Amino acid sequence: MKHLLSTASLSKADALKIMDVAENLSSISDRPIKKLPTLRGRTIVNLFYEDSTRTKISFEAAAKRLSADVLNFAAKGSSVSKGESLKDTALTLKAMGADAIVVRHPSSGAANQLAHHNWIDANVVNAGDGTHEHPTQALLDAFTIRRVLKNSSGDLTGLNVVIVGDVLHSRVARSNLWLLNTLGAKVTLVAPPTLMPRNIESWPAETSFDLDESLVNADVVMMLRVQQERMQDAYFPTVREYANRYGLTQKRLHVMNAKSIVMHPGPMNRGVEISSQIADSDKSVIVNQVQNGVFVRMAVLYLLLGGQSDDL
Ligand code: NCD
Repeated sequence: MKHLLSTASLSKADALKIMDVAENLSSISDRPIKKLPTLRGRTIVNLFYEDSTRTKISFEAAAKRLSADVLNFAAKGSSVSKGESLKDTALTLKAMGADAIVVRHPSSGAANQLAHHNWIDANVVNAGDGTHEHPTQALLDAFTIRRVLKNSSGDLTGLNVVIVGDVLHSRVARSNLWLLNTLGAKVTLVAPPTLMPRNIESWPAETSFDLDESLVNADVVMMLRVQQERMQDAYFPTVREYANRYGLTQKRLHVMNAKSIVMHPGPMNRGVEISSQIADSDKSVIVNQVQNGVFVRMAVLYLLLGGQSDDL
């Protein structure tokens, strides 16, 4: 594996390998000294053209725990605002000796473009491209599901995962859908008709407009953020109406399976897609997702930059 661009193109063997390495790396994080010397002298650039809190910090923490040097690039305040192209930025990063580039960009396909033009020879990790994919989020979600509901090994065969909300604009939903399919889980997408993608019939998932009905058999309920910044039009009448029909609120707890878990990639709109009571309840594994994100990103950087799973 040279790049991690999507989960649609990720094999089951590679997905499992990343999760197994993440599992090994997580035990290192319990030691008093959390740092491994593995990537000493390597340079990892965080190239973020879109705002981000947890993904950026998570990649930075992951790289630093492996002793890599991290350069943080934010488009705001850089020459990008003077009109510099992705190609020229890439050439600059190459000249600075970047070994890996973690890229987040508002255009779908930007990470592929960076990887497949011969501008650079660095490994590219897609940290979110437009509405297309966000593979490390899906990997950390699958890793979290496996740790909480399974035996920390193997795939996710037989689990019912319900993904709810703004599917139309969500790269998290897309990356999860592909990966969960690869790992054997059954996926149901729940959204209002206006937030369901048009080509949904060709996706390997069940679809529903009825949240309560879908919650009954769910092992995992994954809530999506309503992405106002990608909405030019009105997709639902009012926030209150959305929260009533598609929000995960306390009153829906009684229809949920007692053992089911609740996930959210963050940032949350509390009171819109998820109530604070649920987000802060025992069912929520949202904080685990953030913790696990560092282990999964360590695993991805480690494997892309040449580490072998049996060296750990
Ligand atoms: C997601 C993203 O940016 O795609 N957030 C994240 O990476 N934790 C989801 C979102 O913004 O809603």
